Amino acid sequence: MVDYSLPSQCQLLEQNSQLKALMTIIRAKDTSRADFIFYADRIIRLLVEEGLNYLPVVDKTVKTPTGADYNGIDFKGRICGVSIMRAGEAMEQGLRDCCRSVRIGKILIQRDEDTHQPKRIEFSPWFDQLYYAKLPKDIESRYVLLLDPMLATGGSAMQAVQVLLDNNVREDRIIFLNLISAPEGIDAFVKRYPQIKIITGEIDGGLDDNKYIVPGVGDFGCRYFGTD
Ligand code: URA
Repeated sequence: MVDYSLPSQCQLLEQNSQLKALMTIIRAKDTSRADFIFYADRIIRLLVEEGLNYLPVVDKTVKTPTGADYNGIDFKGRICGVSIMRAGEAMEQGLRDCCRSVRIGKILIQRDEDTHQPKRIEFSPWFDQLYYAKLPKDIESRYVLLLDPMLATGGSAMQAVQVLLDNNVREDRIIFLNLISAPEGIDAFVKRYPQIKIITGEIDGGLDDNKYIVPGVGDFGCRYFGTD
């Protein structure tokens, strides 16, 4: 990891040898698509499991088959996922694997290939860069796990959050999950949305001229979905 002072809103996954080995596979440029998907999915599962730790809980006591009580907990509050298309869709199955029949909304923000900023779209009622959004009707009463594998400039993620806020989601009920982050993206994001928790797998050195994370994985969506 780079020498970077992590804001308190950002939680890194435990930096152990398992995670490092998974990251090594997905970062290698010669990794096959099948392996990329398999090992990225394993990291996504770790992110989702960690994200669930930030949901509120209540005490719950159950009786075990021995007749004794076990003083445990139960999750309080309902959740949903929202993926930022297209790459965020790769994280949906990992969320479903942990949360059966979870509702998942989608937001598409188009990035301008020249400016690397979200594209300006005139007709959106919320935000002129938004291209498409389909969210659960009762999203305002839910905790939202926001899914996007790469936090680069933070531009798309911040637009997506604005869509959630415009749909009355509480800022402190959003948990943003991503595999790899750039310090620039984290800093911009926490400055604008200080109440949102970010869970990330690794933090890289920065961005190149094309706003790709370096060393990064290249284009996550293209490698996961097999497109150019
Ligand atoms: N999106 C990607 O897929 N890769 C990056 O490095 C940055 C954004």
